[in-house]
Amino acid sequence: MTILHDEASIRAGVDALAVRIAAHYAGREVTVLVVLRGGIVFAADLIRRLDLPVALDTIGVASYTGAVQHASGPRLTSTPQIDLRDRDVLIVDDILDTGRTLSHLREEVARRGARSVATAVLLDKPARRAAPIEADFKVFSVPDVWIVGYGLDHHDRYRNLPFLAALDPEAAGG
Ligand code: IMP
Ligand code: MG
Repeated sequence: MTILHDEASIRAGVDALAVRIAAHYAGREVTVLVVLRGGIVFAADLIRRLDLPVALDTIGVASYTGAVQHASGPRLTSTPQIDLRDRDVLIVDDILDTGRTLSHLREEVARRGARSVATAVLLDKPARRAAPIEADFKVFSVPDVWIVGYGLDHHDRYRNLPFLAALDPEAAGG
């Protein structure tokens, strides 16, 4: 694998994003909704840098594969415990790729009555976008390669790496 961002680079990027998010919410409470499982590491670092009142919850989502994906979109595997009604919700995920996951989650959160919905992602991979969505807050843009580390996996491995790396194409294909 090839390192794209080391720990220091990630820390600086997350610090800067936290300042922007805090300025956006201007002292209001934000309900951070972490997308399982890839968003865990990013969210853990981000919330500790947010100078705001923070409520924390999680949402689980799985992508359908194959033909069903287009018809039904992603499916929820776990739902938030907090009642999202009238809350300012910030959905935090690892990467915005095709955009299907985050557009589905945005709609889900809106349906639950949130006052506002915004999205924060560590990575944006614009080359593969299929749904009309951009992240409100993002740290890095990445090329169309498979990324692992800092929460992102390949077949459930590498989430614990403290840096972000591109898997070599032959490894990513397997
Ligand atoms: P989307 O619905 O295509 O935007 O999918 C986003 C989800 O796919 C992310 O939350 C990740 O779980 C996963 N994903 C997309 N690209 C990568 C990658 O390069 N490495 C690891 N996971 C990825
Ligand atoms: Mg994910």
